[in-house]
Amino acid sequence: MKLWYGRFSKDVNEAADSFNSSLSFDKRLYRCDIEGSKAHCTMLGEQGIIPEQDSALIVTTLDEILRDIENGKLEIENAEDIHSFVENELVSRIGTVGKKLHTGRSRNDQVALDLRMYLRGAADDIISLLRNFAVTLTDIAEKHLGTVMPAFTHLQKAQPTTLAHHLAAYAEMLCRDIMRFEDAEKRINVMPLGSGACTSTSYPINRARVAELLGFPAVTANSMDAVSDRDFALDFLYACAVAMMHLSRLSEEIIIWSSDDYKYIELSDGYSTGSSIMPQKKNPDMNELIRGKTGRVYGDLTALLTVMKGIPLAYDKDMQEDKESVFDAYDTLRASLVVFDGLMREAKFNVSRLRECTDGGFTSATECADYLVGKGVPFRDAHAIVGRLVVYCIENGKTLQTLGLEEYRRFGDFDENIYDAIGAETAIGRRRAPGSPSPERMTEELADLRKRLSE
Ligand code: ARG
Repeated sequence: MKLWYGRFSKDVNEAADSFNSSLSFDKRLYRCDIEGSKAHCTMLGEQGIIPEQDSALIVTTLDEILRDIENGKLEIENAEDIHSFVENELVSRIGTVGKKLHTGRSRNDQVALDLRMYLRGAADDIISLLRNFAVTLTDIAEKHLGTVMPAFTHLQKAQPTTLAHHLAAYAEMLCRDIMRFEDAEKRINVMPLGSGACTSTSYPINRARVAELLGFPAVTANSMDAVSDRDFALDFLYACAVAMMHLSRLSEEIIIWSSDDYKYIELSDGYSTGSSIMPQKKNPDMNELIRGKTGRVYGDLTALLTVMKGIPLAYDKDMQEDKESVFDAYDTLRASLVVFDGLMREAKFNVSRLRECTDGGFTSATECADYLVGKGVPFRDAHAIVGRLVVYCIENGKTLQTLGLEEYRRFGDFDENIYDAIGAETAIGRRRAPGSPSPERMTEELADLRKRLSE
């Protein structure tokens, strides 16, 4: 039966009924809904708004309903939404007493509460997955403090760095993602119940008590705002979108690195797929999917932003559209983090190939110019000299490492020690400012990352 049957004399049209129903997706709020109802009902009893024994009976019955759902004895079906389902089930079990549960409450403040409770758990879950993945990257980085590789700008080889430095950059992004979710949680974690449909209620409710029972540190300040605010869901979605963007960027690198031309990384068979026609293929599908699913999570954020932009205060049914976006973003980010973590743990980096690509690609040109600066040549002039050297190398099939000293000398004031000066290890070892790739700085950064990730 509909919760609002009294005003109506004819059943709602079948297509309209199914269009209106949110049960197929809001059923996952069942636990939050029941816990929220228990707290509300406990408060109603304590305040003498309903008899204490009625409150106690409702609470124990809600516990039974929860247990039956969790053991699969009770199927969530045949209702307009999860709130109606729980209330109908309660009334079918204890009759008239169950009908007292909704005193002083509306589904408008109820659904706001449920979603906040759900997102609190979801944010905690994502934070722990982000932390795991950042630790995985830190572990891999630690093994590669001395693994040289080219750093790129414009996807052109730029300067030598280490794999540790490159991977730790992603660990930093994940640390900021954690902070974004923690920040979102501050606004999620505010208790809206007691706002009623829009102007609260005249019953002598105790909102602070409900907040205390449900572990909320604060209650919402304005009932109109509380039932129509979904900023907290947008904060969550934005944090999901940014985290996906980071996973997508690393995915893009893995896709490039695992290609036959790069061969920087070999994915484990457990995290790659083959082709139905080309027997040689081993494809980085997981990373392509993460990159693709990033678009879908951006869509979730854009969808809710757009839903919210034109609705007048207070609650409007448009807001029922919040849940699918939020659940989809959560599920997508969660699955991406789980798969990516396993993929990285099993992937093998090709250390000798990384070395070969570092030495072969003029990544030491900046060092070469700095060498001349050390001999008193102004940097702009040194830059031009090394530019000509590079052209000479390209034309003669040489690298800065294989160029002879006589050839070097035709261009400027070079000595035997140029070869040491342009070594990748020398270049990296000299970079000692905070944030640099030298093994000393990287060891500090990784230790600091571990500290931040364990807090
Ligand atoms: N299913 C609704 C939602 O998800 C619950 C609130 C409905 N409130 C109402 N007055 N119809 O937003």
